[in-house]
Amino acid sequence: MQGRFITFEGGEGVGKSTQIRRAAAWLEAAGVEVVLTREPGGTPRAEQLRRILLERTDEPMPQSCELLLMFAARASHLANLIEPAVARGAWVLCDRFTDATYAYQGGGRGVPTAAIDALVRIVHPQRQPDLTVLLDAPIAIGMARARVRNGTDGPDRFESERAEFFERVRQGYLQRAAQESARFRVVDASGELEHVAAAIRAALQPMLVTRSPSR
Ligand SMILES: Nc1ncnc2c1ncn2[C@@H]1O[C@H](COP(=O)(O)OP(=O)(O)O)[C@@H](O)[C@H]1O
Ligand SMILES: [Mg+2]
Repeated sequence: MQGRFITFEGGEGVGKSTQIRRAAAWLEAAGVEVVLTREPGGTPRAEQLRRILLERTDEPMPQSCELLLMFAARASHLANLIEPAVARGAWVLCDRFTDATYAYQGGGRGVPTAAIDALVRIVHPQRQPDLTVLLDAPIAIGMARARVRNGTDGPDRFESERAEFFERVRQGYLQRAAQESARFRVVDASGELEHVAAAIRAALQPMLVTRSPSR
């Protein structure tokens, strides 16, 4: 079977982690070998970098530090998990990838697109997601869901940003989706869980139909 690389994107609390698990279960039931992973993270080293990225400490993190750590984690994740899995024919479902860097570090923090493009050329010049599901919902909905999910844990370094930041992130994502419309499927994530899950299955279904039978 031909391997695939499918990414799930969107702001805080839109339902990525919930929906990616459901999509994985649905694909597995259809006989697909699924590898479920996330960014930043996905391998031991990349998860260590994730902790550094999300931790709230007294030491301010310069934009360039955040950007480079994201791509450092990504390089390790690609080499040690994503590429080998795709090569053996698995479908890798990844909770956030480089589009998140364009949305968060680019849209949210104002890092120039050209700087992110340059790191893409270094870290994954040949690899793009085959399909990207963008879960889109108004900021207030995602933030309310994230608050419920976090309970008493409190927000991480990104979640503690202000609403304007998340609005820029949302617009950053929508702009990416418009620029790369062949790869993106924008799904309205504001509705009920079941409804969103069905829309995601509809987006994945064509890939399931066209996969080459090898068994
Ligand atoms: N469509 C939905 N309607 C209502 N609640 C949802 C929906 N999707 C997810 N949730 C809930 O919102 C919270 C955040 O979802 P989660 O999947 O963790 O979002 P993300 O991974 O995008 O931050 C969770 O508690 C989840 O159960
Ligand atoms: Mg999540």
